[in-house]
Amino acid sequence: MVAPRHFLQFNDFSREEFDYLFERTRRIKTQFKSYQQYWPLTDRTLVMIFEKASTRTRLSFEAGMQQLGGSAIYLNTRDSQLGRGEPVEDAAQVISRMSDIVMIRTFDQEIIERFASNSRVPVINGLTNEYHPCQILADIYTFIEQRGSISGKTVAWIGDSNNVCNTWLQAAEVFGFNVHVSTPPGYEVEPERAGLYGTDHYEEFPDPMEAVKGADLVTTDVWTSMGFEAENDERLRDFEDWQVDAEMMKQARPNALFMHCLPAHRGEEVAAEVIDGPHSVVWEEAENRLHAQKALLEFLVLGRVND
Ligand code: CP
Ligand code: NVA
Repeated sequence: MVAPRHFLQFNDFSREEFDYLFERTRRIKTQFKSYQQYWPLTDRTLVMIFEKASTRTRLSFEAGMQQLGGSAIYLNTRDSQLGRGEPVEDAAQVISRMSDIVMIRTFDQEIIERFASNSRVPVINGLTNEYHPCQILADIYTFIEQRGSISGKTVAWIGDSNNVCNTWLQAAEVFGFNVHVSTPPGYEVEPERAGLYGTDHYEEFPDPMEAVKGADLVTTDVWTSMGFEAENDERLRDFEDWQVDAEMMKQARPNALFMHCLPAHRGEEVAAEVIDGPHSVVWEEAENRLHAQKALLEFLVLGRVND
């Protein structure tokens, strides 16, 4: 059996493969918007395993699979044997014999890697503590759609150096752009955990106002990610000066975009005037999860298509 391709972290795919995926995303989105039926995954099944909560990821994968003619099955830790100690390797053997593709949202990256090593079908990372590759796939597609190529541009990341930040940093290496990162002391980027080849594509700024200067895109995320709830009170104190507000956005380029993977906490990591303001493309960004992941599902199940 040929080993399947997986999307476990952003740099699992090459720049050329992303260019292909973005072209397919554009095509699939246009067809969908004009109500053209496109069912390349008829009789194919996606299994979605969630060990953490989700709105967008579940909905976009489930709706996306149905729109491609296939079906999606939702499993969570609470209602499956996964929560009762069945080894992840055994679960992978069984689940991948009954499906064509698997998406997993879980805690440690190691769990999804162990699953993938024992899977007969492609595995997609739907968020781990370390990475959120599907989010940045949609985010970069959104940037290109709004502003053209992201290569050579400057992205400002304000807040926690979490899974979404790590994935932006990997994407910067793949596409050749720069990330200005500003985190409170003690929350700085860990290049090894971020899975980076080097430190050339990002710069850390103690002052968030400096980080956003001249940025083409300003982005942030919750101060407390899923799995870190015990640190919430401490984080609320540590991050209070890292809110993206209108004053901060003024430091960026006049036509800078604002993105947030959502869910957002207005008044914490972002002010309402920014997320609901003229720079924000968060709803387009959320919608593009659907279109970009349909291209990803098509690519991982069928390979490259010409239609
Ligand atoms: N952005 C994102 O992944 O959202 P959900 O947690 O709702 O899936
Ligand atoms: N960093 C957030 C992203 C949620 C989509 C988390 O991991 O909870």
